[in-house]
Amino acid sequence: MKFICCNTYDALSEQAAEILKGLIREKPNAILGLATGSTPVGTYRALIRANRAGELDFSAVRSFNLDEYFPISQNDAQSYYTFMRQNLFDHVNIRLENTKIPNGEAKSAEAECALYEASLAEAGYPDLQILGIGENGHIGFNEPSDRLSESTHTVDLAESTIAANARFFDSQDDVPRRAITMGMGSILKSKKILLLVSGKKKHGVLNALFDASITTHIPATLLKLHPDVTVLYDLDAKNG
Ligand code: PGA
Repeated sequence: MKFICCNTYDALSEQAAEILKGLIREKPNAILGLATGSTPVGTYRALIRANRAGELDFSAVRSFNLDEYFPISQNDAQSYYTFMRQNLFDHVNIRLENTKIPNGEAKSAEAECALYEASLAEAGYPDLQILGIGENGHIGFNEPSDRLSESTHTVDLAESTIAANARFFDSQDDVPRRAITMGMGSILKSKKILLLVSGKKKHGVLNALFDASITTHIPATLLKLHPDVTVLYDLDAKNG
């Protein structure tokens, strides 16, 4: 893992965007692995600015998102589909048909998981996967556990994740209890990984990344097994 300290969240976002811009310029049909959550929003804003300034072309870019609540309708205000449209897709010239997010409306969650993993495999997995991180070390919705699933699967959300995500819903009871997520194996198949760690609440989990050990109880520590991971963190995460 390569660690890069950024002074502020804005600096972290700019640096993450520079890495993504470099990839897209070098490979216009790059496959991006995308994440939701607050952390990547600044990065997406920087990409939108570059696209609007005519400096970055998304017309051939393809993307796969990490996860989606299940069940949830695509147009629900809280779906990750809606999040991606509002925070990136509707503001750049990416073709919606080139963007993939697990289908929260699928009849069978299990069938959707198999289909999603097959699409990832057919595409060859992302050139670069961007990741946020949960306070509990989750990546996507791979929650701490004795056992982690390798490929795309359904998951019961941890109570701490439901509580953390309740801020986006009217009440905690409205947060869906299940989700579809790429597995740790799917994530580790990306050619490069960019992990963004921002804010005081991520201090503990950042220290677990600095530490040399790997544990399924902090799923992000499995990223240490990947040969090309860059961790961008800010001073709030460093100092707690
Ligand atoms: P956050 O979420 O970026 O909103 O902190 C990250 C996550 O839970 O994966």
